[in-house]
Amino acid sequence: MCGIVATIGPRPSAPLLLEALRQLEYRGYDSAGIATVSPRGLHCLRASGKLVNLSRKLEAATAAGVTGIGHTRWATHGSPEERNAHPQLDQSGQLAVVQNGIIENHRPLREQLEAEGVAFVSDTDTEVIPHLVARQIERLSSHVAPADLLLKAVQSTTDLLKGAYAIAVVWAARPGEVVAARWQAPLLVGLGEGEFFCASDTPAIATVARSAVSLEDGESVRLTPLGVELFDCDGNRIQRTPRRLEGGDQIADKRPYRHFMLKEIHEQGESTQRWLDRYLRGSRVELGLDPGLFEGLHGVEILACGTSRHAAMVGGHLLQQLAGIPTSVHYASEFRYAPPPLRPGILTIGVTQSGETADTLAAMAMEEERRLAADVTELAPRLLGITNRPESSLGRRLPQILDIAAGVEVGVAATKTFMGQLLAFYGLALDLAARRHARSTEEIQGFTDQLKGFPPLLQALIEQHDQCCASLAQDFLHTEDMIYLGRGINYPIALEGALKLKEISYIHAEGYPAGEMKHGPIALLDAKVPVLSIATPGPVFEKVLSNVQEAKARNVPLIGVAPECQDAQLFDVLLPIPVVNELLSPLLTVIPMQLLSYHIAASKGLDVDQPRNLAKSVTVE
Ligand code: AGP
Repeated sequence: MCGIVATIGPRPSAPLLLEALRQLEYRGYDSAGIATVSPRGLHCLRASGKLVNLSRKLEAATAAGVTGIGHTRWATHGSPEERNAHPQLDQSGQLAVVQNGIIENHRPLREQLEAEGVAFVSDTDTEVIPHLVARQIERLSSHVAPADLLLKAVQSTTDLLKGAYAIAVVWAARPGEVVAARWQAPLLVGLGEGEFFCASDTPAIATVARSAVSLEDGESVRLTPLGVELFDCDGNRIQRTPRRLEGGDQIADKRPYRHFMLKEIHEQGESTQRWLDRYLRGSRVELGLDPGLFEGLHGVEILACGTSRHAAMVGGHLLQQLAGIPTSVHYASEFRYAPPPLRPGILTIGVTQSGETADTLAAMAMEEERRLAADVTELAPRLLGITNRPESSLGRRLPQILDIAAGVEVGVAATKTFMGQLLAFYGLALDLAARRHARSTEEIQGFTDQLKGFPPLLQALIEQHDQCCASLAQDFLHTEDMIYLGRGINYPIALEGALKLKEISYIHAEGYPAGEMKHGPIALLDAKVPVLSIATPGPVFEKVLSNVQEAKARNVPLIGVAPECQDAQLFDVLLPIPVVNELLSPLLTVIPMQLLSYHIAASKGLDVDQPRNLAKSVTVE
């Protein structure tokens, strides 16, 4: 969460910073700010709310200089008001810092600084940093050359910080310099034509930089108009070969759609085709993973958060039912503090579209560490990451990555990346089913052949439901609570439908396994609580219909996501889906979930792409 940027070069910084922040706004949009440095001093401008507020302020203000830093915030410490926006300054107002992350020891540091006479002006954890850097400058100035003062001061400040952070610092006394550093938060350095950049993520620099270098934990960097110098955690100069940026990382325009979310829903036929082209060879799945991951495999554990966890739950079902592998799915945030006892031959999969979710990264790191610490061959870690960002922290940390290749997703509500994660699990389950001879070659071919028909099927379904859901949404404008039901492989889709509705329309929604209703939640039902039920032909079809009857008897408005058939007359409204093998049905049943949530939120006039209190990439614990 939060996005940081820095620029240095011949061009004025402010417009470059603003454009870079626009590309990072998905990371947080509570407030934004920039600080530029010119020979005349430091100019800092901040505004609460969306970036557009900062941009309006900039029209009427001066932000001179060709060196600058910027920030877009997702509030952690301190409410989203202007005084808590970044950059945060030192007492002289000459040194500015932007930070992404959390400084966990900010309280004792603040108390110490206050005892020394520093007056804090914000409630942020970040504000300790400019004060600490200023102190280090003072301390070092007698024996460090002026040219190295800012660098050394930042490096010795990071030694005092605990937590996860990426920071960038400018100082009025050194107008041609930016110093940045990272610890467990993403930071990359962009190299352009005589100009240099730092950013939390590639889209911020994709149009201006030709190549980029990612910083690792503990590393720092100095940007000057002459170039970039990288330093390791001991302050030694290091070299790293930059990777070329292809420009494809740039965030596209949402036109002709009203919102990125709608555009991304509509892209799912195309992204599915891309996935199939990449990973299917005839009727074989070829994921390109190290076969060693699967040798002597006894089980799989999957760690993920939010929507990624729902995809993981579908994946768990597939791995068990298709490939016969015992699989457990965990909230990464729970797993990292209460992991199950170690078992031999376990493949641990971290699923995160952004590749930056702090809980998932930490849970994967913890699992690796405790397995290595056991120092027993059978318990050795086998780690796999499933992500849309192979260049992310997860991608760089794990040797084995399955790229879902869904393309850039801007809407905070995950849609096409969820589809990509589902496809990754279909690929993995079919690959494992073949390796373990859990299914015959003909059966596996049957699944891959059906999958090949999905892109046009999805496209047609999206077009059809876009219209139905747009008109249906009008009935939900005053809904306060909604229940989603599903069973078996579609239970996670019910959870995903409820999450999508909650996060963008602010309507309270819960997903339940349909058979669980009578054990308590049925007490919630009355005519004001719509129930959406997923009912797909399969072993529990009749059971789901009985559960739906129980809800109908409580007079609730009933929406069905089911095939057109006699039984479907039970529903007040039917969002029809074609009949496919039930194990493949989540790829279809999720479409009406996404579109209904989208149209309800859009009809309520809400900010669909940037819902309140959320951010696309949750880089804090
Ligand atoms: C999805 O719509 C949500 N915004 C959220 O639950 C998200 O899935 C979760 O934060 C995990 O993100 P990740 O996939 O980047 O790890």
